[in-house]
Amino acid sequence: MFEAIIIITSIVAIIAVAVIVRAMWDPFYCCFMTTSDIGVLSSSSLIKISPSVYISEHFINSGNSGKWARSITKFSRMLIVVHDGELCLYNPCPLTEELKKELAELGRIQRVVVTNCFHYAFLTQYIDAYPEATFLVPQGMMWKRPELQQHCIAIPAATEGSLFAGTHYFRLPDFYQEHVIFVEEAGLLYCSDTLYIREPEKRPHGRFNIRLMQKFIRLISFSQPCGVIHYFDYVRQFRYPGSDDLHKKNVECWSRIFALPITRITTGHGVFCGCVSVTKAELKNLLSCIERKDGWMDRAGRLVFRICMRKSPDRYRDWTCLYDDEAQFDHHHHHHPSIERRKQARGMGE
Ligand SMILES: [Fe+2]
Repeated sequence: MFEAIIIITSIVAIIAVAVIVRAMWDPFYCCFMTTSDIGVLSSSSLIKISPSVYISEHFINSGNSGKWARSITKFSRMLIVVHDGELCLYNPCPLTEELKKELAELGRIQRVVVTNCFHYAFLTQYIDAYPEATFLVPQGMMWKRPELQQHCIAIPAATEGSLFAGTHYFRLPDFYQEHVIFVEEAGLLYCSDTLYIREPEKRPHGRFNIRLMQKFIRLISFSQPCGVIHYFDYVRQFRYPGSDDLHKKNVECWSRIFALPITRITTGHGVFCGCVSVTKAELKNLLSCIERKDGWMDRAGRLVFRICMRKSPDRYRDWTCLYDDEAQFDHHHHHHPSIERRKQARGMGE
């Protein structure tokens, strides 16, 4: 009897730890333990995808100057769309001298867009270098980094539309106002953080500890194997409060996106070059992964995440912007008050 109690208690404790680690991995690992001294380990020259689309790829290091800092390295991608000698850049990457030259050869930078509330680390480099350009960020960014209000305007409140000729955006109801970008001429879909392209499997499978590690990574990131491209299932844990129909809305949004003539996909991160080809069957498979209802682990993770956010909003400052009404597009007012004033001053319409 006593042994049974110990075994049951241990199992419950292990499950609880797994839920907590899964829910807090990203906010803790990516925010609390990293510092602002981001470094560029390497940057390749522009990758041409089609006559109007280029990708800039960088290998980035988060820096490790703080006491608790952990340095994270990851690939980061910027999408560049060209139209009539004008450029639109999505998710600014480090502006190196070489990149500046390459961009100048392609045309004049008209717009710079940040597609979710996380990919803004290099935005100020562009604000300084291209004062003539327009800078667009999600509404939540205006609340998260108020200092950006004087340089940027919010992406329109409409959940889909176009921010640049030949491109279309969809704002996902999920994950920190993530905007998915479709470029018609290239049949290319750019999704920063909610889709993930799996790196080719090169590591040995045999060893138990490696298999365990791979299982763990899948648990905290993409739980359903669905071909080369994955949906980052763990974002379900960050769904904001008061949005019970969010899953339904999310599925509807992705159904609309996957109905587009998509032949290529690129993502903000992941180990691959430029973009990958995708078939209709793969997109259908991906949609069925997105359609999966939230599991008990997602719901338990959401509970843990919300408790941590409420308990220490300062520590997780980067993750709290969806917990404030002002950061939302469809609550009370459509734009941040200061943006509204600027627009009126300039005589701009909706
Ligand atoms: Fe990201």
